[in-house]
Amino acid sequence: MGSLLRSVILLVAALNVLSCHASLIDDIISALQNAVDCASCHAIALPALQVLAKLGNDPFVTVLTDICELTKAEDTDVCVGELSRSGPILAHALRKFEPFGTTATKFCEATLGLCQQPPVTPFNVPFPKPMPALTSTPPTTRRPPFKVVHLSDVHIDRNYTVGSDSNCTKPICCRNYADHVGPITEPAELFGNHKCDSPPDLAQSLLSAIQEFGSDAAFAIFTGDVVEGTWDTWLVNSSNTAADLQEWNSQMLESIGLTVYPAVGNDATPVNSFPRNTTVTTIGDAQFVFDVQSLGWEQWIGGVAAQEVHDISGSYGAVVPGTQLRIISMNTQYWYKQNFWLYDQNNQVPDPNGLLAFLVSQLQAAEDAGQRAWIIGHIPSGKSDFPHDQSNYYDQIVQRYKNTIAAQFFGHSHKDEFEIAYSDWNNQTADTADSIEFIGPALTPTSGNPAFKLYDVDPDTFEVMDMKVYFTNVSDPTFHESPTWQLYYSARESYGPLVDPILGPEDALNASFWHRLTEVFEQNGTAFQLWNTRLSRGGAVSSCTGDCIQTAICDMRAARSENNCDVTSPGIGLRRAVQEDHAKQQDSDCEGGRLRRILAHVMASRDTLSE
Ligand SMILES: *[C@@H]1O[C@H](CO)[C@@H](O)[C@H](O)[C@H]1NC(C)=O
Ligand SMILES: *[C@@H]1O[C@H](CO)[C@@H](O)[C@H](O)[C@H]1NC(C)=O
Ligand SMILES: *[C@@H]1O[C@H](CO)[C@@H](O)[C@H](O)[C@H]1NC(C)=O
Ligand SMILES: *[C@@H]1O[C@H](CO)[C@@H](O)[C@H](O)[C@H]1NC(C)=O
Ligand SMILES: *[C@@H]1O[C@H](CO)[C@@H](O)[C@H](O)[C@H]1NC(C)=O
Ligand SMILES: *[C@@H]1O[C@H](CO)[C@@H](O)[C@H](O)[C@H]1NC(C)=O
Ligand SMILES: *[C@@H]1O[C@H](CO)[C@@H](O)[C@H](O)[C@H]1NC(C)=O
Ligand SMILES: *[C@@H]1O[C@H](CO)[C@@H](O)[C@H](O)[C@H]1NC(C)=O
Repeated sequence: MGSLLRSVILLVAALNVLSCHASLIDDIISALQNAVDCASCHAIALPALQVLAKLGNDPFVTVLTDICELTKAEDTDVCVGELSRSGPILAHALRKFEPFGTTATKFCEATLGLCQQPPVTPFNVPFPKPMPALTSTPPTTRRPPFKVVHLSDVHIDRNYTVGSDSNCTKPICCRNYADHVGPITEPAELFGNHKCDSPPDLAQSLLSAIQEFGSDAAFAIFTGDVVEGTWDTWLVNSSNTAADLQEWNSQMLESIGLTVYPAVGNDATPVNSFPRNTTVTTIGDAQFVFDVQSLGWEQWIGGVAAQEVHDISGSYGAVVPGTQLRIISMNTQYWYKQNFWLYDQNNQVPDPNGLLAFLVSQLQAAEDAGQRAWIIGHIPSGKSDFPHDQSNYYDQIVQRYKNTIAAQFFGHSHKDEFEIAYSDWNNQTADTADSIEFIGPALTPTSGNPAFKLYDVDPDTFEVMDMKVYFTNVSDPTFHESPTWQLYYSARESYGPLVDPILGPEDALNASFWHRLTEVFEQNGTAFQLWNTRLSRGGAVSSCTGDCIQTAICDMRAARSENNCDVTSPGIGLRRAVQEDHAKQQDSDCEGGRLRRILAHVMASRDTLSE
């Protein structure tokens, strides 16, 4: 009965659509091409897309898929796969907001790059207690530091096939595709290729290196992203994603012999897509991620925290046994511009799924118990893909609990970098610097040389005393037989002597230190270029001179995203990206799913499409 009704509805919809399909395609293409700035995004692009979305998910997906194929944005299988997965989420959002409201502006910014983010919507995060006048955080007793391993963004492609072509027309190569034609031009090697995500053998090599250099570590943190090609979702479904997550948990368990404190990354189906717990939906749900990780992580984080992973959308807090350190692992996907589920209402939701409130409760518990806290998560709070609203609210929490938070750790950018928070954002000095985020690096060779970090940590203050990066060089001829891992640099050794005053033996690599280092970068071009090379472990260096240096330093001083110096260029940034080759496209700043790229391609298709 139900299925008969459904068939009738589908038939009616199909008939309706057939009659006006061709003109719909023209309308959408011309609307996307004529949207050139924020005003025309609101006035032209959104109304056209909303008309289409209101016809239903199926027509929306069909029309956009046809457009994707017609403009040759991607191969047919990619168009079909991507839009069948992401299309319904976009259509759902487009049906829910007014074309001239704040959500609409945010949507234009995130999907088409045509608006800037609107001003922060004022919201005061509620706190259970005021900040204590006196801090009770323990001073160091100068005991020897302990070691902690930090790994991130492994992006393992379980379908990586040695000998397949690393030069292909798909968003992800090094696989055997049925429609591959012609001879193999650049065969994929055993341990990986700069154009492709990590083969399982490279992941195993990383875990062996961690055993070698970090066998005496107290524990490891993993800041997310397991599944291949975060930007490519056209083949992945929830069964594949769940299997990949489980396999990586097992691999870590078997191979590194350390307790791991993990964080949820972008891995959902489709990628980045985590509906709010109040969203009524029959299409896609991220709870399977929390179910899988609750089970997979319990052995490391304990039963209470595992229950939190299940109940609190993937976030948890756990005190490291035998210490006064509380690790708070946040699922940052509800604070992510490319999670298109978040655009499905006109009213701004300050705290989706109550995760900011959860962070406050964890930090308050740490403060009450005289503990120090580490926040770990996937997306650093200062990135341009972290919404200004949620970043501002997040910073309110960091400022309230700055004496409890000893350090923060993130991934996502695939780069070895850092971000600083300040008590006075209008007066950024070593004295007002008060919290530090350590970021990346990644395993996947798409963004440079595979790497991980080892920290030396003070056992009383839990502040970082040294940060050492280990890497393997993909360009080294021996890499393809057997990757050699080695120390790349020590931040204390390399940067400590440069700052003024020189870093003393008992000084931590705290926010004040990193701020002083940014002052060095302003003065010393050699030191800045060293940092710029190290972003990708020398594996994918892009030149940075002039204004680029100012922007890079501004971004280091911006753990609150409204303070970064990244500007969304009306269409242009996206349009340029389409012309770049696949390896370049996979640069993480563009990491927003294939969908955004397809739309950009259509916008740019004015010249290539014969009308
Ligand atoms: C990936 O591998 C699985 C099993 O090995 C196979 O079923 C699947 O078709 C492969 N997918 C691709 C895209 O090659
Ligand atoms: C990559 O493949 C294309 C055809 O698919 C070919 O034209 C090009 O020469 C190949 N690149 C290399 C470096 O072999
Ligand atoms: C996901 O895709 C695989 C093939 O890659 C298939 O075997 C499986 O049934 C699919 N799962 C779901 C939930 O659609
Ligand atoms: C859903 O999110 C709200 C905050 O938006 C939170 O208060 C509530 O506890 C959440 N419910 C569940 C079941 O996670
Ligand atoms: C900026 O901060 C420094 C250090 O805390 C302080 O000495 C100075 O007076 C502040 N300047 C302004 C304009 O607030
Ligand atoms: C960082 O350490 C220095 C020296 O040990 C100290 O003077 C400064 O207050 C610290 N800064 C922060 C933000 O903890
Ligand atoms: C990696 O190896 C290549 C080739 O030997 C060399 O030119 C490059 O400097 C190495 N990179 C680093 C970061 O050591
Ligand atoms: C600038 O940085 C380089 C590289 O770290 C260092 O060798 C040099 O001594 C620095 N110069 C000054 C004037 O501090």
